[in-house]
Amino acid sequence: MKILLERQSSKPIYLQIRDRISRLIKSGALQSGDRLPSIRCLAESLQVNKLTIIEAYNVLEADGVVCARQGAGYFVSNTSVPCANLKSTFAPTQNVIIPEQGGSCFFDMYTAAVHAQSQPGMINFSLGFSHPPKDIDLIARRALRQAPDSLFQYDFPQGQLTLRRQIAQMLIQQGMEVSADNLIITNGSEQGLSLVLQYYIQPGDWVIVETPTYFGAIAILEKLRAKIIGIPMTAEGMNLELLEQYLKSHRPKLIYTISTLHNPTGITTTQAHRQHLLKLAEKYECPILEDNAYEGLCFESVPAPIKALDKQDFVTYISTFSKTLMPGLRVGYMVVTGKHYQAILEQKLLHDLHTSSISQAIVSEYLASGHLRRHLNQLRAEYIQTRNIMLQALERYFPEEARWTVPNGGLFLWVQLPDNIPTKTIRIEALSQSVLVACSSVFFPDKQGYPTMRLSYCLTPEEIEKGISILGKLLKKHLYKGCERMSRYHQTLVHSI
Ligand SMILES: Cc1ncc(COP(=O)(O)O)c(C=O)c1O
Repeated sequence: MKILLERQSSKPIYLQIRDRISRLIKSGALQSGDRLPSIRCLAESLQVNKLTIIEAYNVLEADGVVCARQGAGYFVSNTSVPCANLKSTFAPTQNVIIPEQGGSCFFDMYTAAVHAQSQPGMINFSLGFSHPPKDIDLIARRALRQAPDSLFQYDFPQGQLTLRRQIAQMLIQQGMEVSADNLIITNGSEQGLSLVLQYYIQPGDWVIVETPTYFGAIAILEKLRAKIIGIPMTAEGMNLELLEQYLKSHRPKLIYTISTLHNPTGITTTQAHRQHLLKLAEKYECPILEDNAYEGLCFESVPAPIKALDKQDFVTYISTFSKTLMPGLRVGYMVVTGKHYQAILEQKLLHDLHTSSISQAIVSEYLASGHLRRHLNQLRAEYIQTRNIMLQALERYFPEEARWTVPNGGLFLWVQLPDNIPTKTIRIEALSQSVLVACSSVFFPDKQGYPTMRLSYCLTPEEIEKGISILGKLLKKHLYKGCERMSRYHQTLVHSI
């Protein structure tokens, strides 16, 4: 824990430490149950007397935000942590966005992020995917060694039966009633998105998306010449009052939603929100495309997907192994029920005949090995840690005016910046210092939205520390530029009076 002390300040040092730790708890950088540094360690790192730390910890204990455990040290208390509560940090007031024209930046954004992966020294906050499991090469070799001849021939468009059965089992555990016959294996969930959007949307149709949302979906909609209605996200998920207004007035053909660990805000909707959304969709006869790319990376249990509530085949569900195993395999899947199954399957065939049998066999072998649960537990433990490191770095380096979400899983933090921050300029300046970020414009259909950054925390602690400090300096430079000029102006006035 780094605490900057102002040794010249009139505020006593122990109170500065108390305030700093309180802020870390409030912001979510320190979570309920987290252990505070030992008195000796903190005293040494801050170069203060141990009594100063004891005094600071005593005040924090009296404030009720930490508690002492005999022989174990001081811990953030359970009752004191508003931090994991997205409400406290996600409160932009937004209007519905209906862009007049598109102009997707998906291609540039995606290729820049992929290019950055191979650049030595580049700190890439812009892409989110997990490290592959350590044993994946062994498993891949085993999958190929055991491969039947059929693996190297043409296959059915819906994908391999064994893999579909395994995925159906996983989904049943999430609360869905599905069988292998409802599943189509896709080339990542991006293909799932593309197939479903092409199935439901004709040029000129209205489509509802959340704003902000995943830019890969916006790009497909623009290509299909759909007319996009961006309904603002709230801390609870898509604003359902506004949704109903637009369902009534515009009669859209589809609602695209990311219900769990929403990309980019990290918000997971409640069971009640999901039920209400589905009811509205049924009332106005508007199908839902539910994208659930990140559920495997949840730090805590989440409600069953909207698809689990769907009795009338209103919901198509897509997901992927890109975030939990590796994106290079390009294995995703979709759950399609009722009459839509055959029609979407035919579309899949026209696209690419079928998803790579070799990739499917590797995923299937991995699932059969029973290692997925352990791998996910490791990823979650790692991401809780790197998320917290990022929260602490944001607290340390970003301007006071910045706000961020504290997602309970996934790979991203969503940072909201003051209105006058030129995010495009900052992105360019950061890149010149080998830091790549995804800024607001790509997540909004009008390519503007409000000033934000999405920061991936699947990086090393050193990269996070360095990258956030560079971004923080740039933000402060732009934010306080005007203020400096003003204060110099005032000084000149004072001198000339
Ligand atoms: C919400 C969402 N959906 C779909 C995708 C596409 O992922 P893939 O095609 O690798 O499965 C992504 C990728 O980042 C995503 O964030």
